Amino acid sequence: MPLKRKILELQKRKEEILQGGGEKAIAKQQAMGKLTARERVIALLDEDSFNEYDLFVEHEARDFGMESKVLHGDGVIIGTGTIYGAPVAIFAQDFTVAGGSLGLMHARKITKIMDYALKMRIPLIGINDSGGARIQEGVNSLAGYGEIFFRNTLASGVIPQISVILGPCAGGAVYSPALTDFVFTVDNISKMFITGPEVIKTVLGEEISMEELGGARVHSEITGNAHFFAESEMECFDQIKKLITYIPWNNTRKARKFEPKDPKPEFNIDEIVPGDPKQPYDVRDVIRSVADDSDFFEVQEYWAANIVVGFGRINGDTVGFVANQPLMLAGVLDVDSSDKAARFIRYCNAFSIPLITLVDLPGYLPGVDQEHAGVIRHGAKMLYAYSEATVPKITVILRKAYGGGYIAMSSRHLRADFVFAWPGAEIAVMGPEGAANIIFRKEITEAEDPDKMRRLKVKEYKEKFANPYVAAAKGYIDTVIEPSETRKLLIHALDVSVSKVVDKPWKKHGIPPF
Ligand code: HXC
Repeated sequence: MPLKRKILELQKRKEEILQGGGEKAIAKQQAMGKLTARERVIALLDEDSFNEYDLFVEHEARDFGMESKVLHGDGVIIGTGTIYGAPVAIFAQDFTVAGGSLGLMHARKITKIMDYALKMRIPLIGINDSGGARIQEGVNSLAGYGEIFFRNTLASGVIPQISVILGPCAGGAVYSPALTDFVFTVDNISKMFITGPEVIKTVLGEEISMEELGGARVHSEITGNAHFFAESEMECFDQIKKLITYIPWNNTRKARKFEPKDPKPEFNIDEIVPGDPKQPYDVRDVIRSVADDSDFFEVQEYWAANIVVGFGRINGDTVGFVANQPLMLAGVLDVDSSDKAARFIRYCNAFSIPLITLVDLPGYLPGVDQEHAGVIRHGAKMLYAYSEATVPKITVILRKAYGGGYIAMSSRHLRADFVFAWPGAEIAVMGPEGAANIIFRKEITEAEDPDKMRRLKVKEYKEKFANPYVAAAKGYIDTVIEPSETRKLLIHALDVSVSKVVDKPWKKHGIPPF
């Protein structure tokens, strides 16, 4: 056969495979408001950058009538491309082909691209849209998931792993996204759960929709499984692209440097934090008042909002911000906020992203609920994550830093490299009211006018401890600064930390309070 005819044959074969599950299945996908797998990959990657592999893979299932079924690409697309010029490896499950279900060859395609991403040390993006384990393929499907989970764990902390939930992700399939670094969701499209509504109805007799059980809002606001929430697939792809600009390709490289830009003048750092320690404010405004171009890319915005985490840039370089949020529960640490911050700190540390911590909190949240939910175990994760982190760590105490909260929020004692405090900082074992009530109980109860005595004692306590100078006198904080000096000092601190070295005792790995 002449080459020309062979080329024509190749084109015909490709064309057929590119039909995916066919017109009817594609129409159903569109009716659900979803793009097809190929459209998604094209929309996410740089124009003309996608190269597909294993297009001609065929399934090998022989039971339950599968032998006569043609499943184009076996329901998953794999390949490489670029995002703003950065190389990425990608897979996208094609729901139009057997519901994107995962059989042996489908899994092999995914593990092939995972191996490739790890070998080439480039980010991996997985688009999930699948009915889960392909029922007809039995244990081969389960084996496939196991192979994926193993690789997720092996690659963790080496290359960025991004999961995008754009359809069902049910049963054990949810554990691959859960093992990855960032999970992106889209309203009304993402569905993640271990046991679906049918099972829940059969076993528990309860009726619940897929959306209420495990939709994008549920995972972005309640469970914390998702890191990003978008209204549409295109918005979701913009979020992924933005994330890629902040993170390095792998754990041996630095994130891309951008042209430094001053913060926008509307974020006036002198006017954000109120003098009254009980008055709330949005700590994200403080972040925007120091970050390049006032740009802050928040992670897990809608979950555990009493702590704020996310990426920004200082003088062109990516940094990770961790900040108590006085707008929500006065910025206390609790079970969920400790989990959220600890994981983010570990991400930044794994990928050499310096940490900037902004402190303003009354401590850990008291109460039976928190105690019984395991605030001891979860709270310890913060201490572990900060102590373990060897990236440059810079702390700014904006206002309150009480009790365990003072220690946990990247204090000198957990080896922060620089600790700065604003003049309104209050560093103490607890708030003045609580402290005065305990240590001056006798004087207050025995006084002729207990209220007056309490006020006096609170004032006395405040004068003695509720300021930054006691801690500064001990060297626990390096200097007291004016708010307007903060950005300049952050730039300087990052500059002098570029070749930071930390010696640690040898260990196989630690045992964090997971
Ligand atoms: C084989 C599957 C499939 C599966 C869907 N399909 N899921 N084929 N194995 N797991 C097929 C359907 O038969 C159908 O084929 C096509 O995909 C589209 O599915 P529909 O049901 O028509 O779509 P829809 O109505 O949108 O419903 C989507 C769905 C539903 C909610 C995901 O398909 C469903 O409940 N699937 C089963 C989910 C499940 O229980 N999976 C196993 C989970 S256990 P045709 O030919 O008719 O177009 C698991 C274990 C992993 O995953 C363990 C790892 C440790």
